[in-house]
Amino acid sequence: MIGSEGIAKDLTRLKTMMEQLVSSEKMATVGQMAAGIAHEINTPLGIILGYAQLMMDDFAKDSETYQNLEVIERQTQASRKIVADLLKYSRQSGSAREPINLNEIINDAVAITEHSLNLNHVKVGLQLAGDLPALVGDPEKMRQVVVNMINNAYHAMEAQGGGALILRTRFHAEAGKVIAEFQDSGHGIPESIKSRIFDPFFTTKPVGKGTGLGLSVSYGIIREHGGAIEIESPVQGPGGTVTPGTLFRLILPVAVETAAIKE
Ligand SMILES: Nc1ncnc2c1ncn2[C@@H]1O[C@H](COP(=O)(O)OP(=O)(O)OP(=O)(O)O)[C@@H](O)[C@H]1O
Ligand SMILES: [Mg+2]
Repeated sequence: MIGSEGIAKDLTRLKTMMEQLVSSEKMATVGQMAAGIAHEINTPLGIILGYAQLMMDDFAKDSETYQNLEVIERQTQASRKIVADLLKYSRQSGSAREPINLNEIINDAVAITEHSLNLNHVKVGLQLAGDLPALVGDPEKMRQVVVNMINNAYHAMEAQGGGALILRTRFHAEAGKVIAEFQDSGHGIPESIKSRIFDPFFTTKPVGKGTGLGLSVSYGIIREHGGAIEIESPVQGPGGTVTPGTLFRLILPVAVETAAIKE
């Protein structure tokens, strides 16, 4: 044999595309399934809850029966939260295309949650850019993302008895991107689960506390707006410093989209 000839092709891109496709199909199936069953389950759950609460009136608060009924009440409410989350998840289709003022959405979300965050010893710091251009998309969905991020940060700090949540926005003019950061001083995300936190139903929280849909829904919304999400845990600071906690960074395009809406 004096030689051989071959063709090599880099399949990395194809492989990533296939993986993305599989994951988006998985999401679509979950959405359809959720829409189908959520209503059916919600009705009987409401009836169980109603009867449990009705029966509670008939027993003394310190009786065993009353306490058992309380367990039924709590667990039914936890199930209803899961169903409500599923419903939100399945309503992903159909989006508004309006100007979005991200600073305003963050300010609103903080105004609503700050009181209970402070009560739980979480300090909120706002560093919002004054020159932030508007995004284009669905403000309600963007609000959902911001609330999910704040809730996750809060849960990560709750176990530690509090901490600090810093919300930043800035405009990266050359890239035409708006950047929003949510930095908490919570327990952080171990390397081993970083690749799974965006999966539907992935959660490390106890039953009734988390459904594992927050980040997968948020990821879907950010992608729909042409954006990306980055995570740092621990948080990398300037000059190689490392701070315990987690930072979620949303990177959202502005210029092209804004031009498109003006047509
Ligand atoms: N800021 C954070 N700090 C530490 N861990 C986080 C943070 N945000 C998310 N996580 C991890 O990612 C997991 C998935 O988050 P996600 O928001 O998708 O679901 P969840 O918060 O568990 O439940 P849900 O949002 O549906 O109520 C969490 O259970 C948690 O382990
Ligand atoms: Mg969450």
